[in-house]
Amino acid sequence: MDLVVRNARLHPTGGTHPEPVDIGIEDGRIGAIRERGQLPLVETELDAEGSLLSPPLVDPHVHMDAVLTVGEPRYNESGTLIEGILTWAERKPSLTHDDVKRRALEAIRWEVAQGTGMIRSHVDVCDPNLVALKALLELREEVRDIVELKLIAFPQDGILSFPDGKELMREAMRLGCDIIGGIPHYEWTRDDGVEEVHFIFDLAKETGAQIDLHCDETDDEQSRFLEVVAARAIRDGMQGRVVAGHTSAMASYNDNYAFKLIQILKRAGVTIVANPLDNIVLQGRFDTYPKRRGMTRVKELDAAGINVACGHDSIMDPWYPLGRGSMLDALSMLVHVGQMTGRAELFRAYEMVTTNPARAAETPWAIEEGAPANFAVFDCTDEAEAIRLRPAARWVVRAGRVVAETEPARSVVHHGGASDEVTFVKPTSEGGRNQQRAAT
Ligand code: FE2
Repeated sequence: MDLVVRNARLHPTGGTHPEPVDIGIEDGRIGAIRERGQLPLVETELDAEGSLLSPPLVDPHVHMDAVLTVGEPRYNESGTLIEGILTWAERKPSLTHDDVKRRALEAIRWEVAQGTGMIRSHVDVCDPNLVALKALLELREEVRDIVELKLIAFPQDGILSFPDGKELMREAMRLGCDIIGGIPHYEWTRDDGVEEVHFIFDLAKETGAQIDLHCDETDDEQSRFLEVVAARAIRDGMQGRVVAGHTSAMASYNDNYAFKLIQILKRAGVTIVANPLDNIVLQGRFDTYPKRRGMTRVKELDAAGINVACGHDSIMDPWYPLGRGSMLDALSMLVHVGQMTGRAELFRAYEMVTTNPARAAETPWAIEEGAPANFAVFDCTDEAEAIRLRPAARWVVRAGRVVAETEPARSVVHHGGASDEVTFVKPTSEGGRNQQRAAT
């Protein structure tokens, strides 16, 4: 064994290992999962102290070409989606190879440090020189040791509504982009949007690539491109290979239509990615009150058996000035906006930043013997606590190597002549990690 992680909780709510276990890693893979004390001492040991050991987090939807450009050349003062797109159009001409790589690498480091092991990034290809794409293709190889980065050709300004849009999409795929993106609701006409969807599926047939498009990111209940996507996915046998991001209009559809659409989506095996951080601030902007939340129907889609995931979308860019690359921040917003605070719902939601997006990427993402040794140890005891506390990722491991580590913050309150550490968990009479410990 090259590394042993002691006293880690794999399945706090039950499953095959309800009690903390020791995990041995050999040649980049999980070699053994045993009861505590069953594995021999090795040179490199990590003591998880009963903390949650989880598959790495996955960010299935982010825009690495735009990250950390907030304020350049100006701030989006209205906070609207359209001012974001216009501000980005002003920033795009000054993109350079090094500028894109430097910002994207920094944001990737933020995500990895907080437990993310796989990132799917959209890259705007509405640029005759494809500057951002070429930079990120290079970076994709350079960060392979710390994260799996997949790139999606994203036509921010449309495919039919942008000069040479189709050719730029083809060129992006020729250059080595992994996945075909789209934005049908942004085309000038409904017909153009439908044609865009058909172009994307034709390109998928030619290239064999997956599809991951922005779809119906609007409060307009008439925006109904997702049904076109689902129908083509069924007809082309693309079940399990198509992802639709945002689908915000689903929050505005009448229940009758939403019911019909969900049935088609289920047959089509389309994964839906909600992006609650962006959409809770970008949607509902034309409403007074009641003001719509604008997040897709996460709970209902999940209940219907559709694969649902959660993305970060923006990190300090023209659309969203906040964010720190934490998938647990994004998930916290999702459970609030989607009202998934039931006990079982919190655990269910955790799958939306781990196994569900991994399934959409057709990548196994399990902690089991023989699997790649990819995982994160969080400073908490279970998945619900991970969402509540958004704790430090004590260690992030990729292919058996520790690629990031974080010391948890420590708080002490000086009160009544004593100095007590505050642990942000319910005090219990049994003690252990649930009791406030006396600080020295
Ligand atoms: Fe997006």
